[in-house]
Amino acid sequence: MAQAVKGTRDLFGAELRWFQWIESVTHRCMARHGYEEIRTPILEEIEVFKRSVGESSDIVNKEMYDFIDKGGRHVAMRPENTAGVVRAAIQHRFFDTSDPRRLYYIGPMFRYERMQAWRYRQFWQIGAEIFGVAAPEADAENLTLLFELLRELGLSKLSLSINSVGAPESRPAFYQALRAFFDKSESQFCGDCRRRILENPLRVLDCKIPSCQAALEGHPVITDFLDEASRAHHARLKELLNALEIPFEENPRLVRGLDYYTRTAFEVLSSDLGAQSALLGGGRYDGLVKQLGGPDVPGFGWAIGLDRLAMLTQAIHGLPPGKKPALLIPMGQRAALKAMVLAREWRKAGMDIQLETRSITLKKALQTANRRGFQLAMILGDSEIDQGIITVKDLNKGLQEAIPQDGAVAYLSSSQY
Ligand code: HAM
Repeated sequence: MAQAVKGTRDLFGAELRWFQWIESVTHRCMARHGYEEIRTPILEEIEVFKRSVGESSDIVNKEMYDFIDKGGRHVAMRPENTAGVVRAAIQHRFFDTSDPRRLYYIGPMFRYERMQAWRYRQFWQIGAEIFGVAAPEADAENLTLLFELLRELGLSKLSLSINSVGAPESRPAFYQALRAFFDKSESQFCGDCRRRILENPLRVLDCKIPSCQAALEGHPVITDFLDEASRAHHARLKELLNALEIPFEENPRLVRGLDYYTRTAFEVLSSDLGAQSALLGGGRYDGLVKQLGGPDVPGFGWAIGLDRLAMLTQAIHGLPPGKKPALLIPMGQRAALKAMVLAREWRKAGMDIQLETRSITLKKALQTANRRGFQLAMILGDSEIDQGIITVKDLNKGLQEAIPQDGAVAYLSSSQY
């Protein structure tokens, strides 16, 4: 029997209902903050990711689903969406004015990752990006949106770590110090890290292998090499976060796995996911738009792992939001017709009604209703039709009562939500 491809899964039932609830909270929250949705294709030319996320990053180097299409184009299934959003914004001339542009997206991403807890090869992200403002006020405003969204989703037990990775101009001195450090300790690092030391030493700080993390003890930290403007940006952001009462801790080792960051970089961890799996990450990327062929427009944003978020909301809130519709069970031919008419009427009035269309015994129909988690069964037989009533059974409480058919909508609206 064919199975879903390793690392991918089908979404249905309670998990999907959590996804849908999170998505609806997100759409409302984004609208309130002036963010506009964008849906970009899953396929992009591979260069979009090579020139943004970076050729030396694990994401591009090892984890991308890329192939040559039938027309000979080298394409990739997006491993993240900041690069695609920037590509689209350049293509559609969003940056022709100096107005800030706020965009958000929800969609699946693909990374061929080693399988472990909370890691999938097709996973979902919610992301938000603000373009056009270089000042730390944009970082703080975008983080306010993030924490407002997390609050509305009922999440707590979160910790925000921030760092500044400086401007590209401040990197050479830092790289030199890092290389001098690695010269003495290179043999203690894994093969991948030894390659990273040559290609992009910043990536070594991001290695998850415990022996590499141990070998990093006492390494030079990027914050000691910051240029003056980046230092001032970072100080102002911290001041704003304090004023907004968004708690954070500074983590000078935080560099992130993507190459496009400048100045602010951050991650949010949840104690329920453990230190290896961040709930979300993001930062500033002032050179990216230009790097992808657009004007010199700064940017800042983040992406949350929706799969991880759905797991956390489920653990916090228990049952998924929304109730099961009522099951309308007709007994006999005459009732079957009447039930169809009533179901259509009640649905028009906004009620969620599912109709039992099989001709089966009441006992069997009630067994189905219980098994499928319905809260209400509404039973319609000849005597109910003659009296203009319907029998309502609350399946959780085991209570039964007769109500007039023309009072059914009022009854359902008070019990369905
Ligand atoms: P990222 O840190 O690579 O950043 O991914 C963001 C989040 O996506 C992670 O914190 C995690 O929750 C989730 N995620 C990543 N990989 C997986 C996976 N294999 N399985 C499940 N969840 C995963 C970015 O993608 C940047 N584009 C964020 C950004 C937006 N920076 C600026 N703007």
